[in-house]
Amino acid sequence: MYKAGEEEIEAIARVIRAGTLFRYRDGSECERFEARYAKALGVPHFDLSASGTLALSAGLIGLGIGPGNEVLVPAHTYMATATAVLAVGAIPVLVEIDETLTIDPSAMEHAIGPATRAVTPVHMWGTACAMDEIVEIAERHGLLVLEDACQGVGGGYEGRMMGAIGHAGAFSFNYFKNMTSGEGGGIATRDDHVAERARCAIDPCHFYWQGQDEGLKPFAGAGARASELMGAMLNVQLDRIDGIIGAMRQNRRRVLDATKGLSNRGLRQAPMNSPDYDCAAQLMFSLPTATDADAFAASTGGVVAGKTGRHTFTNWDQVLTQEGAHHRSLNPYTLPENAQTRRDLPEGFGTTSLDILGRTVMIPMDPDHGEEDLEALAHNIELAATEIADGALRAGQAYRDLKSPDLQKFDAQSDA
Ligand SMILES: Cc1ncc(COP(=O)(O)O)c(C=O)c1O
Repeated sequence: MYKAGEEEIEAIARVIRAGTLFRYRDGSECERFEARYAKALGVPHFDLSASGTLALSAGLIGLGIGPGNEVLVPAHTYMATATAVLAVGAIPVLVEIDETLTIDPSAMEHAIGPATRAVTPVHMWGTACAMDEIVEIAERHGLLVLEDACQGVGGGYEGRMMGAIGHAGAFSFNYFKNMTSGEGGGIATRDDHVAERARCAIDPCHFYWQGQDEGLKPFAGAGARASELMGAMLNVQLDRIDGIIGAMRQNRRRVLDATKGLSNRGLRQAPMNSPDYDCAAQLMFSLPTATDADAFAASTGGVVAGKTGRHTFTNWDQVLTQEGAHHRSLNPYTLPENAQTRRDLPEGFGTTSLDILGRTVMIPMDPDHGEEDLEALAHNIELAATEIADGALRAGQAYRDLKSPDLQKFDAQSDA
């Protein structure tokens, strides 16, 4: 969702002209963003990092996850959710998704074992996880909750912000996200100790500048400090985010209303856990079969609708081949501490998730969709449903072109 203009250019230029690219200084852009974003999320701590991947592992480190622990990860997410678990020495245990394309709470409860210590619900495609159920299950089983809100920037769940509901929440600001600085990320938490540990993971030297918590013994960390260019751009992007999300919610509601009647032609709106609060970055339909979903995507030339194939466990080579680290002595899959964890996928795992993903089509929303685009979208969706049901278009029927160039980006969006 790349929306940037002269304000961002000016903010970055200001930092370059002043020659103040290092974050630890008075008037820091990073510090200003961290304070503003923490306030927007309703948490006391938000710490920037160089990526969402590092934010996830900093969150896990903050929560004290390591060798001997299992972390529940949905079968459908960008692979960093799983590889971040390996990066801290723990084992990702995969869990099926449901038709919302987020972790299935009952499958999650089923997957809990004696070594399970945490769960990472992923607000995939900006749609909300069933956080009330997830938190209730986690509390009953004594699990920690690290929300992966990398795709949920600016979105919420029933009045609370994504990433601010669990014990910690990780965010990404890479090019494809709702707010971007090209690359970047950060971690939110209410807990002082978790925040201090996460800061140490992000920058093992941070206490030189930020002071040291008496209770924390510093440990070695990867080092993924944010730059002032990132902070400057994000401060401008933060001013845009509510407008972007608000427009997408309104646009999605319009198209959903206009296509409500299509279930008799096999096109069912996919369920959502928090339709009034999530990011509304995608409009999703569930079709009866994968063949129908393929036909739906093809019938619109892939321009209006797409299917995601890449964010699924079947593509996570490092996890499937158990290459959990760069060095075999550090590989969580062979660490003695992980001997009691479940390292292999159960027989038949993934059938449900793959079936759901095969039948689901997604239509990206754009805050800049105007009246004409919204009408064309609804028209094209109806036509595609008719084409699949009837086997062909009728004479005189034709798809309409959309103006928004973002709709062409579906494949690229699927990549990150
Ligand atoms: C769900 C999810 N988790 C984690 C990440 C990792 O973020 P980054 O690309 O900033 O490292 C991404 C971003 O692509 C993501 O979409």
